[in-house]
Amino acid sequence: MREKPNIVVIGTGGTIAGRGETSSNTASYDCSVLTVNEILSSIPEVSSLANLRAEQLLQTGSENFNNEHLLKIGKRISEVLKDDDVDGVILTHGTDTIEETAYFLHLTLKSVKPVVVVGSMRPPSAMSSDASLNLYNAISVAVHPTSRAKGTLVVANDEIHTARDVTKANSFKLEAFRSPYGALGYVVEGQPRYYRMPWRDHTVSTQWAIDDLEALPKVDIIYAYGALDERVIDTVASDARGLIYAGTGNGNVALHIVAPLVAAARNGVHVVRASRTGNGVVIRNGAQPDDDYGWLVVDDQAPQKARILLMLAMLSTPAERSALQAAFYRY
Ligand code: DGL
Repeated sequence: MREKPNIVVIGTGGTIAGRGETSSNTASYDCSVLTVNEILSSIPEVSSLANLRAEQLLQTGSENFNNEHLLKIGKRISEVLKDDDVDGVILTHGTDTIEETAYFLHLTLKSVKPVVVVGSMRPPSAMSSDASLNLYNAISVAVHPTSRAKGTLVVANDEIHTARDVTKANSFKLEAFRSPYGALGYVVEGQPRYYRMPWRDHTVSTQWAIDDLEALPKVDIIYAYGALDERVIDTVASDARGLIYAGTGNGNVALHIVAPLVAAARNGVHVVRASRTGNGVVIRNGAQPDDDYGWLVVDDQAPQKARILLMLAMLSTPAERSALQAAFYRY
C-alpha cells in the first residue's frame, strides 16, 4: 500500500488558470495563462493529500472546445488511467463547458478510478477566489476510496456532482453549478461525504470506449423562439447528421417549424426534441407525434448534454431510431 495516492493533474486552461490585474477583478481577467504547475504550487496544502504529477494538455478557454478537443482529452486520460501506478485523475477546465467534457468522459472512459473535473468561477488572483479550495476539494475527492466507480465527477463550491446531471447555471456567482436532482454529496475540510449514487449507466457499463473513437458525427443545436426563421433549420440540416432542437417548454415546436423539422428527419437527420428550460422531461408523443414525424426526445437531458449523447449513440451500428431513443432513456 502506498503512503499517499498518486494523482495526475491535467491542465487545459480556464479561469482556474486565469489572472486579473487586481484582486478586485473577479469577473474580468486573462483566462488560461497559469500553467497547471503554477496553480498547484500556489496551494501547498495539496501535497499532503497525494503525490501529484502535473501535465499541461491544453491552455485555452473551454468555450473553444470542439469534438477534437474532447477526443484528445478523453484519450489522454484513458492512457494515464491505464498506468497501475496512477490512482486517479484531475482535469482542470474552464467552467463554461465543463459539463460537456465531463459527460463525454463519463460515457466513454473505461475505468473505475476517480476522474474529477474542476474549474473555478474566480481566478486565483481575485478576492475570495474559489480556485484553490475547488482544486483542494477535487484532489480530496479523487484520493478517497468512496469516489471509485461513480463515473466522472465535477467538484465546485463544496459540492460533488455527477457529470451526467451538472450544468453551469450562473454566469458569475461562485454558486454556479446545479444538478436537477441535487449534488451527489459535499466536501467538508478535505473529506467527501456522499448521499446519492449516479443511477444511469456510465464508464465501464456503456457501449463506447474512448480508445476506439476516432471522430464524432456533426450534431448541432438550434435554440427555439417564436420568430425563429425556418431557413435556419434547412441550413443546419443540410450539413449536420443530428439536430438537437432546444424547444420552448416541453420541447414545443412552433407551427412554422414543424415542416422543416419533419423534412430534416425524412432526409436522414436525427432530430431530437429537447427543452430550452434545461430542466424536466420532454414527453415522447406528447405535444408532438414523434413516432409519425420520425423524431426523438431527450428524456431529461439539457440540449448541450443531449448533443454529446447523440454523437456517441450515432456511432453504434446500426444507428436505428429506436436504438437512439433507447440511449436517451438509458444514459
Ligand atoms: N473562458 C471561460 C472558460 O474557459 C472562463 C470561464 C471559467 O473558467 O470559469 O470556460
